[in-house]
Amino acid sequence: MAKDPLKTRLVQELGIEYPIIAFTHCKDVAAAVINAGGFAVLGETQHSPEEIEADIKWLREKVGSKPFGIDLVFPASVPAVGSIDDLKAQIPEAQRKFVEEMKKRHNIPAPKKTPELYDLGWVNKETPRRQLEVVLENNVPVLASGLGNPAFVLDAAHARGMKVWGLVGKPRQAQREIEAGVDAVIAQGNDAAGHTGPIGTFSIVPQVVAIAGDTPVIAGGGVTTGRHLAGAIALGAQGVWTGTVWLPSRESDVDMIIKEKLLAAKATDTAYSNCISGFTMRTLKCKWHEEWERPDAPRPAPAPYQLLLFADVKQSAIDWNMPDFMTEAAGQGVDFVTSMKPARQIVLDMVEEAYEVFDQICGEDE
Ligand SMILES: Cc1cc2nc3c(=O)[nH]c(=O)nc-3n(C[C@H](O)[C@H](O)[C@H](O)COP(=O)(O)O)c2cc1C
Repeated sequence: MAKDPLKTRLVQELGIEYPIIAFTHCKDVAAAVINAGGFAVLGETQHSPEEIEADIKWLREKVGSKPFGIDLVFPASVPAVGSIDDLKAQIPEAQRKFVEEMKKRHNIPAPKKTPELYDLGWVNKETPRRQLEVVLENNVPVLASGLGNPAFVLDAAHARGMKVWGLVGKPRQAQREIEAGVDAVIAQGNDAAGHTGPIGTFSIVPQVVAIAGDTPVIAGGGVTTGRHLAGAIALGAQGVWTGTVWLPSRESDVDMIIKEKLLAAKATDTAYSNCISGFTMRTLKCKWHEEWERPDAPRPAPAPYQLLLFADVKQSAIDWNMPDFMTEAAGQGVDFVTSMKPARQIVLDMVEEAYEVFDQICGEDE
């Protein structure tokens, strides 16, 4: 092959070796991926401004001058302000009652600890703004916006030499963000873990590539192998945005029960539903999903109220070891995630397989 298909413009501009971008909440995974030649974006929506600052410092110590990103979310349709207690008092009655009955049906005790999900920044609009200030003050190389249009921060970020990426699930959102001037757009398909839109990866990526012009497009959703990486490049993407594949890695701090569930899971063990957060989201199926499919179940409450309902049950499941109610965001590429490998190995295996695929397609005949 004359040209190296993995040395995309995005790779060259970032000064990295491989077009593999890891989304992770785990600092150790991020450092391992970056030091293996990939790029990592640390999910910080659940952290206070002080914790975000400490994580940025930690990561800089581990990766030196290599670039990295921080992911925040800026959802439009949540209350402007409000403490967890204020918001809990506003949970709609039908959904609150249904969850109380569910807890009785399954003998789910109250959590022992404060639910981890109460720390999520996006339950109101105020917290993400405070998180953003720290990211700007620290001149983080890339700010990724996982939810909501980051147009409002572009001038401030660009003035500091930072790049801003926007994650989108629909071509219309991509158009708006590209016109606003984002530095890259992540076209994320329905196959993805976490909050995701209705369009499959195979459709959304070339749709966004077709309108992106010079703005690099990164493909996300269901990417767990080198064959997916090669496929994404063929669709016109300049890199892949990956989440699920890192969850059961050696360095990952994900609970061992969840790791085992992920290693055993098939694509059909994931569900696309708004019953976790009130926004559509792909996660591992668990009893909570079954409950919301009962004929007597109300529709899930809007965000962030549904998430607050789920937060309590999720924490009880952890505190009282109830695996049936344990779940995690997981994408449809989970079938290929079958062993607990070090993150560095995952990067190198993906790259090697992608080159093998390109060779199979473009190599010389024997
Ligand atoms: C456990 C987990 C948590 C996630 N949380 C966030 C988040 O806080 N912000 C965000 O932008 N994306 C989040 N995502 C989605 C990822 O950014 C990414 O889009 C997705 O994982 C890509 O699909 P894949 O998992 O099939 O690779 C999360 C994904 C996982 C697996």
